[in-house]
Amino acid sequence: MGTKGTMAVTHSLREVDSVTIQVLVDNELDPISKSQNPAVVDATSFRLRELPAGDRGPAAMEMRMEDICCGAHGLSLLITATAGAASHTLLFDAGPEEDVFERNVARSRADLSTVEHVHLSHWHRDHSGGLPRALRMVNAARTPDSALGTPVLDVHPDRPIYRGFNAGPFVASLEADPTFAELEGAGARVVREKETHGILEDMFLVSGEVPRNTAYEVGFPRGMRFTEAGEWVPDELIADERFVVCNLKGKGLVVFAGCSHPGIVNICTHALALGGGAPLYAVIGGFHLADGDAAKLSASIQGLQELKPKILMPGHCTGWRFKFTIEQEMPGALVPCFSGTRYTLAADGVEV
Ligand SMILES: [Fe+2]
Repeated sequence: MGTKGTMAVTHSLREVDSVTIQVLVDNELDPISKSQNPAVVDATSFRLRELPAGDRGPAAMEMRMEDICCGAHGLSLLITATAGAASHTLLFDAGPEEDVFERNVARSRADLSTVEHVHLSHWHRDHSGGLPRALRMVNAARTPDSALGTPVLDVHPDRPIYRGFNAGPFVASLEADPTFAELEGAGARVVREKETHGILEDMFLVSGEVPRNTAYEVGFPRGMRFTEAGEWVPDELIADERFVVCNLKGKGLVVFAGCSHPGIVNICTHALALGGGAPLYAVIGGFHLADGDAAKLSASIQGLQELKPKILMPGHCTGWRFKFTIEQEMPGALVPCFSGTRYTLAADGVEV
């Protein structure tokens, strides 16, 4: 279960030169809006196809609607970090549905052939539903000369039979997450880990369970789980949620959060405790404030301001109110995370 306190063992985290984030699935898309901070976050959405000569005069390229990704309630990020000549790719969650994952990979022409590690942020279907097909697609994308082998699927060991929530007169259940057997059958080497650990030559760190310290971040109110005894019991902490962090050279920590059930401020505070003294630079993913009241939004933005991130990239379950709050209270920091958009963060002097 989540614990109080701020003690954390510092783990070695290798500095990286660049981080590229291809958003495969997010709730929202906005391929037209430009990054308001292109000097620090390059964002590209549209893909153009070459147009055969002669069809439309001198037009050389075509923008097709079928190349634009779709939105869906969930999150999936394809993350590649580079350090010198080394490069590693991580798939962070796989969105809610297999068809959505496959469609958006095809539309964005994302390259899954180099995915070595697949991280599941927590056991909730909007993050796990696409995993079986994602794993099959990673295996199918491997080139014959690839030395990468079977992808690792990194999960918290405590998979509930079902999760749901207390809706008052009834319990509303989610669909089950894929089982360990399904995931292994899809071609993963499943690693069940609840402690902090480095991955991919220590370019990334996967957190353990996140200490809960703020008074206003109380997990998932009314959350429940179905037990082997056939009962629904309260499960508000979602203690299995783990984040991923990397350290961009000269800039600081880049934090990847799935749904932020531990609280986005608790997550960033813990990232700083694990990060060996590096400052907080960017935070991307679900901040889970779509259902937060005004007091929680106010406390959360104050908490983030105190941690001094330069870039906030909220998506998925963040909600429009908090995105708006960021824009008002931290001008210039907002770079919304959109389905189908590719973001690049780079150390000074590094061309990507
Ligand atoms: Fe979520």
